[in-house]
Formats: sequence, C-alpha cells, structure tokens
Amino acid sequence: MQAVSSCYYSGVIRIPVRTPSYCYEAIIERGVLSRAGGFLKEVLDGVRPLFIVSVAPVRRRWGKTLVRSLEAAGFTPRLAEMPDGEPWKRLSTVEILAERLLHLGADRKAVVLAFGGGVVGDLAGMLASIYMRGVKLVQVPTTVQAQLDAAIGGKTGVNLRAGKNLVGTFYQPQLVLIDPAILDTLPEREFRAGMYEALKCGIIGRPELFSRLENSSLDVLRQDPEFLTWVLAESVGLKAEVVRSDETERDRRRVLNLGHTVGHALEAATGYRRFLHGEAVAWGMQAAARIALETGLLKSAVHARIASAVRTWGSLPPITVETRRVLRYLEVDKKTEAGVVHFILPREIGKVEIRNNVPPGAIVAAMAEIRQASRRGGAE
Ligand SMILES: NC(=O)c1ccc[n+]([C@@H]2O[C@H](COP(=O)([O-])OP(=O)(O)OC[C@H]3O[C@@H](n4cnc5c(N)ncnc54)[C@H](O)[C@@H]3O)[C@@H](O)[C@H]2O)c1
Ligand SMILES: [Zn+2]
Repeated sequence: MQAVSSCYYSGVIRIPVRTPSYCYEAIIERGVLSRAGGFLKEVLDGVRPLFIVSVAPVRRRWGKTLVRSLEAAGFTPRLAEMPDGEPWKRLSTVEILAERLLHLGADRKAVVLAFGGGVVGDLAGMLASIYMRGVKLVQVPTTVQAQLDAAIGGKTGVNLRAGKNLVGTFYQPQLVLIDPAILDTLPEREFRAGMYEALKCGIIGRPELFSRLENSSLDVLRQDPEFLTWVLAESVGLKAEVVRSDETERDRRRVLNLGHTVGHALEAATGYRRFLHGEAVAWGMQAAARIALETGLLKSAVHARIASAVRTWGSLPPITVETRRVLRYLEVDKKTEAGVVHFILPREIGKVEIRNNVPPGAIVAAMAEIRQASRRGGAE
C-alpha cells in the first residue's frame, strides 16, 4: 500500500469547539506536548496552580516532556496519579483524587489537567466539574480513542457496577491539546481499536476520510505523521461539528453512536473482557450497515464497502456470544433510553440517519452476518 504523504495541513491546526456553555479550541500538532506550557498560559490568562491527573504508563513515557514545558512557562505542576484501567473509573477514585488535590493545596483557582486515555479524561473531567463546585479543566489526551473522541465534547463520567458511564456531568475543558506523536508509544491493539472510531466519523460525515482509511494499512497510519494528523483533525472536526449543534446529546449527537448500539451490547454480553471498545464498535458498524441494507436504506455495494473496511486492518476478536444474549442487552439499553432502541444507520458514505423502529428480523440478520464474518477470521 502506498504511503499517503501529501501535506493536508501544515503547522498548528486549531479546531473550535463551540457549545452553548463554552467555546474552546482543540489544538492538534505533532510535538505540541513540548509547547503545552505556552498554550496553557495563553488560555488560562497566566500561571495558575496546576494538578496533573495521570496513570503510570503515560507518566513514565511522557510526563517529563509535559512537566518540563509547563515549568518553562512558569507553572509548578503537581501530580495526582490514579491506578491504570477501566475498573478504576469509579466514584471512589474521584473521592481519592479529590482528597489528594486538597492535600496538595488545590483551591478554587486550581486547574485540573487530564493526561491520559479516555479513562483519565472522563474521570479527571468529572473531578474538575465537582471539585469545589467546579475548577478549570484542560484535556491532554494520549490515546487515539481519547484524542479523536473522549476529550472533545465535555462528557465526563464514571461507571457503576450496573453499567458504564452511569454517573457523570457535562463539563467543557478550557483547551484540548492533541499531540499525535504521543501515539507512538501506544500498543498496536489500542491504536487500531481507536482508529475504528475514525472510520466511524468517515461514515457519519467525512467521505474522504472513509475512503482514505479503507485504502490504508495501519503501518501507513503509524508511519506517515502528516496522514495521521489529518485523520485525527478530520475526526475531531466532525465531532466538534456535531457537538456544536447539540451539546447534551438529545438528538443530533446520537449520530456519533454509529456502531455503538450493537457494539455496546457485544461489550456488555462479554463482560467487557473480550473486545476493546473500538473493536466492538467495528463489528457494530458492520451490523448497522447490514440492518440498513435489510431495511432498504443502503445499497448493497456500499454495505459491502463498509463490511470490507471493517476488516481492512486484520481480524477482530470473534463473536461467540449467542445472538439471544446480545438481544437481551439491547433490551437493557432500551430501559435507559425511555423504551426505545436507537440505531444509527448509514444511507451512504457520509450520511447517516437515526431509526428507532428497526424490525427484530433485521437485527438477527445483522448478528448472523457478523458472526459468520468472525468465523472466517474477520479478515479477507
Ligand atoms: N467522554 C466521552 O465522550 C467518551 C468517548 C469515548 C470513550 N470514552 C471513554 O474512554 C474510555 C476508554 O478510553 P481509552 O480507550 O483511551 O482507554 P484507557 O484510558 O484505558 O487507555 C488504554 C491504555 O493505554 C494506556 N495509554 C494511554 N496513553 C498511552 C500512550 N500514549 N502510550 C502508551 N500507553 C498509553 C493507558 O494507560 C491504558 O492502559 C472508556 O471509559 C470510555 O467510556 C469517553
Ligand atoms: Zn465509541
């Protein structure tokens, strides 16, 4: 496969994220981490007490670069570390970090800097939104998932035993700093899983993004810095556009859930152990394409294109869970959504629509298709 190295953007990319409650920028540039201090000083109107929330794998690899840049700009950052992993995304961790902040002397002028993947971003975001009734927040996301999705749009939250993200707030950051170079140390599986969300953005509203991704290998994405930056910027742009029109997810923001209805059910039905989130979303996108085909919304050539794009980066963890179990989890979803299961269905590449009256037969056909694809190893 050819490397795509034409220069899509040069220099700093600044994407405005306008929401009714606050307007801020997502700044994307390779190496921007080493200039974080300058950007923070600008957006915070000077130097403030700064508290970095992070996890060991990120702090070990990138902590020094961030701290040096903050210190050079006059900040005296303090670190509040949390244990790594989704199981720690819970209320008790918020409480422990709040105690730690207090111990470190954080007052109402404090700024929380979330430095990690989506788990850190969601948890530190929630902490900032409630610590002393709200202190300022800066997001410095370090995974693909967090850079193109979790850090943008202001959703924060933690999990309860009964399910994911059941407690949370809407709280916008002052700034999102996205450094694609940080992804160099991300494990391959995490990198790839996050990239399915970029593919999703392509189907929702960026046809060129989709067609470039369907023709690119993961190696190209990892080795062509300009292409990777472009992919992140296009995805962030799409999310910012959607968030702008609907901050609190009542309607339009739902389109971002393409692939997530079946994806969430697959994750839940396998106890969140088999799939990384993006992998489940990948299967979910193929399922959504099949449902759209079954309901006459999508041409079969486009359905085939989506199915093949999902497999373009190799095989995904197989689906061995019974369809019945997955359907049961869709029913659980229904309870939290006032009795309706929403499906986001593609009409073509770059256009989706929200449907809440999908016939059960179409869902069963979609499950059969992805199960069969996974038996073939998911790769073609
Ligand atoms: N708020 C939102 O809108 C939103 C959107 C999507 C997902 N999320 C949430 O995001 C979470 C998942 O985020 P995630 O996929 O980033 O997982 P994660 O935060 O658990 O990170 C995955 C792993 O990668 C490690 N890591 C992070 N950056 C690294 C780097 N640069 N180099 C090496 N290792 C690194 C982490 O320590 C962790 O072990 C879920 O809890 C999900 O609910 C939130
Ligand atoms: Zn997602």
